[in-house]
Amino acid sequence: MNREAFYKLTYGLYLVSSLRGEKKNGFVSNAVFQVTSNPPQIAVVCNKDNFTSQLIKDSKLFSISVLKKDANPKLFGLFGFKTGATVDKFESVKHITAKTGAPIVVEESLAWFDCELINTFDVGTHNIFVGQIIDSDLLDSESEPFLYSYYRDVKKGKAPKNAPTFIANK
Ligand SMILES: Cc1cc2nc3c(=O)[nH]c(=O)nc-3n(C[C@H](O)[C@H](O)[C@H](O)COP(=O)(O)O)c2cc1C
Repeated sequence: MNREAFYKLTYGLYLVSSLRGEKKNGFVSNAVFQVTSNPPQIAVVCNKDNFTSQLIKDSKLFSISVLKKDANPKLFGLFGFKTGATVDKFESVKHITAKTGAPIVVEESLAWFDCELINTFDVGTHNIFVGQIIDSDLLDSESEPFLYSYYRDVKKGKAPKNAPTFIANK
């Protein structure tokens, strides 16, 4: 198998967030995609070891923020390489509260979706969470989205082992 072939798949970059009680948390994901239009459904591939995974399973809600091109690298360090099990990621990040109660990161975001979990598919290391979209908004129609290929090829960004795209030593 030539794993370089996976690099020809295209993605954006997103922050997927949830909460349990007072605890808000989220993680960087490239694996977000619209599932259907009517009803509007969206899916995210989430590693079972992500702290956010437990929050989504328990609260049955999550939000998705679509990151803008050249979004502040601090967001990737915080949401992509640290775990909410030990860090309060939302302490320093501008966010709003969605209809479902989920926190939504609006800093560096073009648009957002507020979702209720309606289906979970166990795919081994990860779950695919499917959400019914309860609400959404466009925050910035001028800027471009942050493409994963741009993050990897131009910004030389890395993905940690919990990312579905992870390839060792790349
Ligand atoms: C560019 C990038 C893409 C990522 N994509 C995913 C993804 O699609 N799914 C996933 O489960 N983790 C992904 N990750 C890894 C999580 O963001 C990371 O493990 C995070 O620290 C989990 O945070 P948590 O434990 O607070 O939930 C990605 C990380 C980066 C930097």
